[in-house]
Amino acid sequence: MPFCKTLILPLQLIMPNLSQAIHHKLFGIVAEAAKEMNSDAYVIGGFVRDYLLDRPSKDADIVTAGDGVKLAEAAAAKLKVSKVAVYRNFGTAMFNYRNWQIEFVGARKESYRGDSRKPDVEPGTIKDDQLRRDFTINALAISLRQEDFGQLSDPFGGLDDLRNKLIRTPLDPDITFSDDPLRMMRAIRFATQLQFRIIPETFEAIRRNKERISIISQERITDELNKIILSREPSLGFKLLDDAGLLELIFPQFVALKGAEYIDGKGHKDNFSHTLEVLDRISVNTDDLWLRWSALLHDIAKPATKRFDKDTGWTFHGHEFRGMKMIPSIFSRLKLPMNEKMKYVQKLVQLHLRPIVLSQEEVTDSAVRRLLFDAGDDIDDLMTLCEADITSKNPEKVKRYMKNFEIVRQKLVEIEEKDRLRNWQPPVTGELIMKSFGIEPSKSVGIIKTAIREAILDGLIPNEFDAAYNFMVAEGAKLGLKIIDSTPLPDK
Ligand code: CTP
Repeated sequence: MPFCKTLILPLQLIMPNLSQAIHHKLFGIVAEAAKEMNSDAYVIGGFVRDYLLDRPSKDADIVTAGDGVKLAEAAAAKLKVSKVAVYRNFGTAMFNYRNWQIEFVGARKESYRGDSRKPDVEPGTIKDDQLRRDFTINALAISLRQEDFGQLSDPFGGLDDLRNKLIRTPLDPDITFSDDPLRMMRAIRFATQLQFRIIPETFEAIRRNKERISIISQERITDELNKIILSREPSLGFKLLDDAGLLELIFPQFVALKGAEYIDGKGHKDNFSHTLEVLDRISVNTDDLWLRWSALLHDIAKPATKRFDKDTGWTFHGHEFRGMKMIPSIFSRLKLPMNEKMKYVQKLVQLHLRPIVLSQEEVTDSAVRRLLFDAGDDIDDLMTLCEADITSKNPEKVKRYMKNFEIVRQKLVEIEEKDRLRNWQPPVTGELIMKSFGIEPSKSVGIIKTAIREAILDGLIPNEFDAAYNFMVAEGAKLGLKIIDSTPLPDK
């Protein structure tokens, strides 16, 4: 079996040719600057890991046994880069060169503390620094020293862990995680993104240290959560977060979806695993973070709306509406943007049952028209969500739904072509109603406007100006109104 495993690994992992990874002139210049300062420098961390995994990046971290800021300034001068950003508190500096982003740090002996304002560090060797990094696969370094330029430095078995797809801390994991508890999220994020396994000793330490996540800012936690959601199979990460006990702490509403209750032999599906299945299914069809969030939240109000009725069994009436209402507080707690992204997620959650209900009934033109009107430009995303939501274990049922869904899709195209209802405004405006009947803004204007819109959506009248105008005249008459001005509105 090990033979098979090697076959699917990138070439770099079998025969590391690491000077190739740093062939860019930029690394030669950094090496030269370090030599002139009588200091050692290495490329370290994500750049090395990603090169070995055949995911080359232009974002490189350099660690030096000397002063990171001075090395950055010396290298920048040689490259004629005038702008160097210096973070004195952290002892780091960075600059951009062409489309590369290079960050410099002096090797540290004490904790690597990305989140602390005053890091408690003292200078150390490169190996001290590697030991204080989060995972063995992120502690790999490539030498920029003249005597062994391109040589991999791997004191903690990171290359083997990459080959065997393992996440392991170089140090005692309790120390690594208490240095920076965000690393618990990072462990699960890397395990999900790379589809690696967290070794049991490291995973147990996450379980033990989970409460420490409370000292990490919500923005950084959510950043990792979003990276998990954007992975190829996000359910892996959610299951790990749940097993570790972190999910309960960072996203309790989601954990509340867990469990299937039975009364009189009648059960309902476990909404936790259902939602994760929907999330994985939608991830095959979209990389859009907010559409994936919509999948994650589509049934979030099921626990709050769950009822049991002797005749009908379990119901979750109104969970789509209640779910839509829950979203602002979830977004606010997770520090997700409270802007049009949130409104988009709310809209999809609120409408998520509409296409499926449609596909279960006879698909009438007016129902399709209403769906188009309510979903507007988000109709395609809504259909993608709805399709992912069909997770029944009964193949006959799935086949039937999918067939009806096809009919809904066809009708959507036909009606959209005919009536152009996406982001549609009825052909007669409130302004025209007021001018025609000589009335001020009032309840009557709203009544007439709604009647026109409904008549078009129901297919009573075509979506055209003349038909809508005549309908307006008739509706006005019902309210005792007469046309006093039949000239059109001036063009704006
Ligand atoms: N690092 C660490 N502990 C952290 C964050 C980062 O030890 N909490 C170290 C790791 O060696 C990591 C490097 O700093 O490889 C760079 O960190 P970062 O740029 O955040 O992550 P990458 O590993 O480059 O991965 P990604 O870009 O996917 O976040």
